[in-house]
Amino acid sequence: MIDGVAESSSSRISPIGAIRPRSHVQLTGRSAEVTALEQEIDRVARSDAKVLITGESGVGKEIVARAIHSRGPRANHVFAPVNCAGLPETLLESELFGHVKGSFTGAYRDKPGKLETAHMGTIFLDEVGEMTLRMQGLLLRFLETGELQKVGADGSGRIVNVRVIAATNRDLRDMIKQGTFREDLFYRLNVIHIVVPPLRDRREDIPVLANQFLAQFTGAGRSSITGISPEAMKALTEYSWPGNVRELENVIERLVVTVSGSTIGVEHLSSEIRAYDAVLLRRSVNVVAPWPTTFTNG
Ligand SMILES: Nc1ncnc2c1ncn2[C@@H]1O[C@H](COP(=O)(O)OP(=O)(O)OP(=O)(O)O)[C@@H](O)[C@H]1O
Ligand SMILES: [Mg+2]
Repeated sequence: MIDGVAESSSSRISPIGAIRPRSHVQLTGRSAEVTALEQEIDRVARSDAKVLITGESGVGKEIVARAIHSRGPRANHVFAPVNCAGLPETLLESELFGHVKGSFTGAYRDKPGKLETAHMGTIFLDEVGEMTLRMQGLLLRFLETGELQKVGADGSGRIVNVRVIAATNRDLRDMIKQGTFREDLFYRLNVIHIVVPPLRDRREDIPVLANQFLAQFTGAGRSSITGISPEAMKALTEYSWPGNVRELENVIERLVVTVSGSTIGVEHLSSEIRAYDAVLLRRSVNVVAPWPTTFTNG
C-alpha cells in the first residue's frame, strides 16, 4: 500500500536479472470518470511527456501522479513529491536544486536536491501555482536545459533526466492574466492535461471509497466495526464533499475512532452530513448503484 492506496503487484526482471516487485497504484472507484482516468493514466504512463493535473483540493491529484509513475518505465526509480506551497522561496530552491556547503547559514554540507535524487524517476511538483515568479523562472530554465543549478554553485551543473508531473487546484490561465504565473512555463508544463473531477460529480465512487477506508482503518483487529448501515451510506453518498476524497477519508477515520458498536449508523454522522441528506431526500436524488453494507477484513 502507498498512502492507503490499493496496489496490485506483479514482478519483472530487472537489468541485473533479479526479480523486483513492481507496485501498480490503482484508483478506487467504479464511476465512468474513474474508468476514463484509469485508461488515461495507462496511456500517459507509456510516454515521458510532462503532465499537468488539475482538480479541487483532495480529489486525488497526487494519487494520479503516483499511478502514472508506477505504471511506466521509471517505476523502479524515485518518485519525489515536492510541495511548492509548503516552503519559503529560498528553501524551495534548495529543496529542488540542492545547495553547496556554505551557500547560506546552516548549509553545513553539500545537499542534493529532489531533482537530482529523482534522476531517472519522476518529480511531482504539487501546488505549482504557489511558486513565486522567480522560482517559476528557475524551473523554466531547468525544463529547457535539464541542468541543475545548485544554490551557491558556480558554473554549469549536472544534467538530470527527470519526468515532470505538476499539479494545482488554481486556475493557471487566470493567474497568467493576472501576471502571477508565467505563460511560457504554463505551456511547458501543460503538455498533457488531466482533470480529476470532484467527488460530488462521481457519487458512485463514494460507497466503494468509504468501504475501502473503513477496511483500512479497522484492519488488523483495530476496531469492532464491520460495516456502514444503508441509511448512513445513503447520507454519505448524497453529501456534497467540498473536501473531496480526503474529507471522506478523514470522516471515516474519525467514525472508526468514535463509534463503539459494530455498525456506523446515520446517527453517528455529523449534522452537516445528515442535514444535506435531509435536503436531498426531499428532492429524491437517485444513487446509481447498490453497495455492500458489510465487508470482511483481511
Ligand atoms: N480514487 C482514489 N482511490 C483511493 N484513494 C484515493 C483516491 N482519490 C484520492 N484518494 C486518497 O485521498 C487522499 C487525498 O488524495 P490526494 O492527496 O491524491 O489528493 P490531492 O488532490 O493531491 O489533494 P490536495 O489538493 O489536498 O493536495 C489520499 O489519501 C489519497 O490516497
Ligand atoms: Mg496534493
